[in-house]
Amino acid sequence: MIRKLRKLKPALFAAALTGLLAVTAYPAGVRAETAPTPPPTPETVCIQCHSSLPDRLGAPVALWKQSIHAENGISCNSCHGGDPKNAADAMNRSRGFLGAPKEENIPAFCGRCHVGVMKDYLASAHGKMLGKGGPHCVTCHSNHKVLKASLDLINEKTCTQCHTFERAAAIKAAMQQTEGYIVQIDRRIGALTAVGVDTETMGKALFAQRNRFHTLFHDQDVNRVKSESTQINAELGKIDKQLKGIEDQRAGRKVTGAIAVAVALVLAVLFHLLRKTYD
Ligand code: HEC
Ligand code: HEC
Ligand code: HEC
Ligand code: HEC
Ligand code: HEC
Repeated sequence: MIRKLRKLKPALFAAALTGLLAVTAYPAGVRAETAPTPPPTPETVCIQCHSSLPDRLGAPVALWKQSIHAENGISCNSCHGGDPKNAADAMNRSRGFLGAPKEENIPAFCGRCHVGVMKDYLASAHGKMLGKGGPHCVTCHSNHKVLKASLDLINEKTCTQCHTFERAAAIKAAMQQTEGYIVQIDRRIGALTAVGVDTETMGKALFAQRNRFHTLFHDQDVNRVKSESTQINAELGKIDKQLKGIEDQRAGRKVTGAIAVAVALVLAVLFHLLRKTYD
């Protein structure tokens, strides 16, 4: 009997080890996730000269450095044109320099790259009031310190300059739930991807719904936001269900792993005691 148990001992330890690995693999995988490195923004004559200028001419440099544009390699000349390599001729119109846009031209200025947003904006109640008291891109996003878009942009300070916060709050409320749902699903997909689950189809489905959702705001149409958000929530619900299936399956496996470890440990202790008694 003892001899048999003794032979079993390495097998027991192997079982215990496998169980332990199964339990710890999940958090280890999540920790292995790494952040992507942003592309470098090259130094230009625009940045060099303007950093040394005072007030309204120098201020844009420090503000822009904190922006999502700087992070993505969109530099002074990407927006203002000109020659970023030739200090003497940098701001020559013949080198494509555009200068600073006047208020009415700002949507077209930003819209060279953000075509869809510009179209939605121009068709909205805000766009129709451009140059007549309506807000434009810079009113809400600022000119140089443009940050990653979020619902925080809808706040009392910005939105009560011209009217009450009521309609702004209605749009924000309609969007907040869906935004939270998107963030939550994104995090769960990320956690599964990190442990090697194939999440490509779910990731693509989420990406499509997220893009659809982010085109809603500039219309300023509360009813459309509400009806579209309902449909988007339903689509997100499908991804949620799929995720839950995989998560439950993995949680089940974790419990089985934990039970295996517990059983193995009890058996090891028993074996140890038996040996002490009979040796
Ligand atoms: C050698 C210094 C120098 C360089 C290089 C330079 N700037 Fe300027 N910039 C100035 C000065 C001085 C002014 C203010 C006088 C003026 O408007 O000409 C100015 C004004 C501007 C303005 C405001 C124009 C307006 O209509 O108010 C913008 C925008 C601008 N620069 C962008 C750029 C960009 C983009 C580049 C690179 C392609 C650049 N600058 C390169 C010195 C410079
Ligand atoms: C995302 C596009 C964008 C980028 C990138 C950008 N600008 Fe501008 N800039 C604008 C817009 C739009 C205005 C006019 C906004 C306004 O009237 O408030 C402007 C205005 C200016 C002005 C005139 C400011 C004034 O008060 O008269 C200067 C000078 C200027 N930019 C310099 C720069 C420099 C230098 C850089 C790079 C460090 C830069 N900009 C990067 C969009 C941009
Ligand atoms: C009344 C305020 C306001 C105005 C005017 C405005 N935006 Fe926005 N913008 C927002 C808010 C709020 C969001 C965030 C919406 C969300 O989280 O879905 C946003 C999101 C964005 C985004 C990211 C989402 C996407 O669809 O790619 C971009 C890019 C953008 N705006 C560019 C612009 C441009 C360009 C203009 C001018 C043509 C403009 N915005 C005018 C408030 C504004
Ligand atoms: C030369 C092209 C170009 C111009 C002009 C430009 N942008 Fe952008 N913008 C980009 C790129 C590239 C990104 C980063 C990738 C992305 O998120 O789309 C970006 C990102 C943004 C974002 C964040 C989007 C998000 O998903 O969170 C906002 C908001 C934005 N830009 C607003 C503006 C505004 C306002 C202007 C005008 C003052 C402007 N942009 C002019 C190219 C441009
Ligand atoms: C510079 C002035 C100004 C600012 C700032 C401003 N708005 Fe407006 N807004 C207007 C004008 C003008 C109208 C059209 C007239 C009206 O309906 O009152 C309007 C209308 C609206 C409408 C009704 C649209 C419709 O079709 O009935 C909503 C919703 C709205 N704004 C939301 C916002 C939000 C959200 C913000 C802040 C992110 C904001 N506004 C900031 C000027 C502004």
